[in-house]
Amino acid sequence: MQNVTTAIIPIAGLGTRFLPATKAIPKEFFPILDKPALQLVIEEAISSEIKRILLVISPLKGDPTLYFNPDSELEKQLTLKNQLHLLSSVHAIRSSAKIETVVQTKPAGLGHAILTAAPLLKKEEPFAVLLPDDLYLADPPCLRQLLDLSAKRKLPAIALLEVPPQEVSKYGIAQVNQLNKRTYRIERLVEKPKISEAPSHFALPGRYVVTHEIFRFLRKVRPGRGGEIQFTDALNEYAKEVPLLGYLIHGRRFDVGDICGYIEANVAYALIRPETGEQLRHNLRALLADE
Ligand code: G1P
Repeated sequence: MQNVTTAIIPIAGLGTRFLPATKAIPKEFFPILDKPALQLVIEEAISSEIKRILLVISPLKGDPTLYFNPDSELEKQLTLKNQLHLLSSVHAIRSSAKIETVVQTKPAGLGHAILTAAPLLKKEEPFAVLLPDDLYLADPPCLRQLLDLSAKRKLPAIALLEVPPQEVSKYGIAQVNQLNKRTYRIERLVEKPKISEAPSHFALPGRYVVTHEIFRFLRKVRPGRGGEIQFTDALNEYAKEVPLLGYLIHGRRFDVGDICGYIEANVAYALIRPETGEQLRHNLRALLADE
């Protein structure tokens, strides 16, 4: 498998779980402390050595790349106040990766969103997919762990996460065959099965490394769960022909597409940040004691 340097990040969703807030702010720009969740996901991609990011966007939302563009007026003001460092993380992204967009004209599902980005990839190019509702505190970064496995075994690989039985219907679920401690061969995939029909408790938590061949399956797959073109369904057909690995990621994952997961991510990031950790720990203890 060739070296993977391009990542697709689909951000065309309307964020209905966070309405009315998402009427004003797209979900992917909700902050985790002081950074948009999308920036954290892009930083994960960059620290995993991704050089090109393809954002799949909705025509109903604004242009997300404006955030990464220089803002000369703001930079002038911050320079005068000696505070330009406040933008250094955004500047670092600009100098490390090329961010491009492609418009998904209709909300036809994750598989359709990924297929929309196909014309922007080089012929035969493998790529990564990062779903920005899934955020990781992991070292090495989650995508890096998958890329390392994929490079070592010369095979595509997807992240796995063990979830409680009552949560299987929220995820793509994998039937697996264990190869070693954290590595599995994917036998079959089902999108959001009922508890009674789930082949395991191994969920797909939003990180994938695949070869270009996946597009052949995405073009063929019929609408599945919710009448949408599901990435999981295309991966299921792909896994019948291409050996596909699953990897239980080291690290903590947050579902920031859910209100509790979003708050949990903010708390976890604040607890590990030296300027906020101690104060927050104290405040949370007092809050819980008053309950
Ligand atoms: C999507 C995928 C699902 C995956 C999940 C991870 O579902 O379709 O297979 O497990 O992301 O977050 P969504 O949560 O967007 O409905």
